[in-house]
Amino acid sequence: MHIRKAVIPAAGLGTRMLPATKTVPKEMLPLVNKPVLQFIVEEAVASGIEEIVLITSSEKKAMDNHFLPDPELYERLMKKGAMREAEAIEHAAHLAKFSFVVQKQQRGLGDAVYCAREHIGDEPFAVLLGDDIMYNEGKPVLRQLIDATEKYGCASVACREVSDESIAKYSSLAISPLEERVYEIHDMNEKPTPEEKLSNHAILGRYVLTPEIFEILEQTPPGRNDEIQLTDAMRVLCRHKRMVAVDFEGRRYDTGNPRDYISTFIDFALKDPDMGDWTRQFIIEKAKELWDR
Ligand code: UTP
Repeated sequence: MHIRKAVIPAAGLGTRMLPATKTVPKEMLPLVNKPVLQFIVEEAVASGIEEIVLITSSEKKAMDNHFLPDPELYERLMKKGAMREAEAIEHAAHLAKFSFVVQKQQRGLGDAVYCAREHIGDEPFAVLLGDDIMYNEGKPVLRQLIDATEKYGCASVACREVSDESIAKYSSLAISPLEERVYEIHDMNEKPTPEEKLSNHAILGRYVLTPEIFEILEQTPPGRNDEIQLTDAMRVLCRHKRMVAVDFEGRRYDTGNPRDYISTFIDFALKDPDMGDWTRQFIIEKAKELWDR
């Protein structure tokens, strides 16, 4: 299975980051000087993806503009000697081939993925959530999933074991081991209560799906929170066809709520080649100040 296309659903309301997200999509919030969404696109490209379908809402034009070339701005920056910045905006516009699809109503993640049907056609594809960054020094997390999909010839999801308190926020999985870090999926459910949970293995932010998912999504009624849930559709898929879960190597950063956004920002500032040393020094001084208080 050759995976060339990816869908990035980024049309959500961003309720937890209001009022910033009234006009700026949460996927466009910066980590130092690059928007969250660009890190996700770069992971997709590093995993072999050539075409990206961004699911946006009609208010979210900032995302389209970020990934479209802007020769006028490029020229202006070059003229004033800001070569590095000019190259940075060119880089974003040439990462992949982009298409943009508007999700008319925020009816849930399943509906957002369904919006990409015509652009994807009859081939397997990846899904990367627009507010979840996956960071791994070695093989990108999406590539780890694509490798499992190619090996087992089936759809795959990223998974990780989470605490009893956290599993209610995710989808829980019933699984059995196939090899180190790869499991066969038998069942799944969305945001389970403690009685409903199948295990503490949760699905996190990355998927490789086969095109049957569109036919299933067409028939999927609204589920939890009255939204069309991708998990409900994948549950049908995993009962008919093999599906695997990959306990990925790497770290996941959620950027969709204030607390996780703050800690992600600090980690990325520490990793930044230009700002890392300054940030480290700033944190040490701040810690001393807090300690002395
Ligand atoms: P979230 O549930 O984290 O995003 O969806 P949200 O709905 O924006 O969050 P809150 O609860 O209002 O703060 C995960 C991803 O799926 C996208 C979101 O943009 C996010 O990247 N999504 C969600 C859609 O594209 N459409 C939807 O209808 C729902």
